[in-house]
Amino acid sequence: MRVSDHYYPARAVVDLSAIRENIRTLAQAADGSAVMAIIKADAYGHGLIPVAHEALAAGATWLGVAQVSEALSLRRSGITAPILTWLYGPGAPFDELVLAGIDLSVASLDALARVHRAALATDRTARIHVKVDTGLGRGGLARGQWDEFRAALRYAVDAGGIDVVGLWSHLAFGDEPGHPFTQQQLTELNSATRDLEKIGLTPQLRHLAASGATLREPSVHLDLVRPGVAIYGLTPMPEVASAAQLGLRPAMRLVADLATVKPVTAGQGVSYGHQYVTDRDTVLGIIPLGYADGIPRHLSGTNEHPGAPVHVAGPNPRSGNISGRVCMDQVVVDLGPEAAEQIGDRIVLFGDPALGDPSAQDWAERAGTINYEITTRLGARVPRIYTGHRDAVADQS
Ligand SMILES: Cc1ncc(COP(=O)(O)O)c(C=O)c1O
Repeated sequence: MRVSDHYYPARAVVDLSAIRENIRTLAQAADGSAVMAIIKADAYGHGLIPVAHEALAAGATWLGVAQVSEALSLRRSGITAPILTWLYGPGAPFDELVLAGIDLSVASLDALARVHRAALATDRTARIHVKVDTGLGRGGLARGQWDEFRAALRYAVDAGGIDVVGLWSHLAFGDEPGHPFTQQQLTELNSATRDLEKIGLTPQLRHLAASGATLREPSVHLDLVRPGVAIYGLTPMPEVASAAQLGLRPAMRLVADLATVKPVTAGQGVSYGHQYVTDRDTVLGIIPLGYADGIPRHLSGTNEHPGAPVHVAGPNPRSGNISGRVCMDQVVVDLGPEAAEQIGDRIVLFGDPALGDPSAQDWAERAGTINYEITTRLGARVPRIYTGHRDAVADQS
């Protein structure tokens, strides 16, 4: 690939020092429980391998990903830390996963049989975490499947090739600290633990907590916590506390170079359908990012309902809003009649409020979604640029 193939007029700048700080904050909150950094979905859009290295350097001792392909990529990149993966069907490369020493969640008789077969075929021991549904109503063994599963598990362990490393579940109200259902789920997990003990199996690791419970629900920390969104400096519970209030710093800034700056007269319709019409002579700036880059079309603006906030980071820093419809590759911002911006000046779409940027949370609220969706949906074609390296003398952002 030629250098010119890499050019893009926008970038997601990921500050690795923020990732490390957030991991340390989470480890402190975990208060002795091990930390599994959840880096699925390309580390929530931040980049799988770079985030994995920072998380491990800052004190996480486990990595967790939903997809087995991500687990294998981590191993192939040379990472030796334990990795848990949990979402797969009958076609998964079980032999390869067992050979790579990946911990596999097992949530059905079918999965147990396939993993066991792979262990016997490769002459290795498969490390499994039994997943029980304690009330979320999503993945995990249902109560009605439990007795048959336990019998099969005991049989598989006796036959050799299965190490029951963990017993785990996922909370339904992790973003609502103090919710009584969380304690109900803990009770269910405790009951499943006793059921395994009755058949002579004692998993070393029991885990239940994601970011919200890591930060605000110590009663469910157990042996290991699994924070995801908080690693990236975003709040898991916006109704309860902002990222800053939780001691978290956003790691990603989405930055674009203005592609066009031009004067227009009052009454100019802007973008498809003219949903926004200039009410005075003004200056428009064209940002080279659109819905193909993951900018939600719900962030389009009209005269009555301004679009997503942005930070105009040129000579006269100020806030602005997306004006008119979000297109596939671009959006427009009405920069105002006094705008002094030039082509190439920077616009920060979202990032760190401490730097004057709107947050991913602000974008989520404006789009009627959650901050998770804002960063995970960021398009693959937007380059990720890393700053705040461990050996960096000065930040290059
Ligand atoms: C099983 C599991 N554990 C942990 C997490 C991390 O959750 P959060 O990003 O809210 O910390 C997720 C994410 O959805 C998950 O599916």
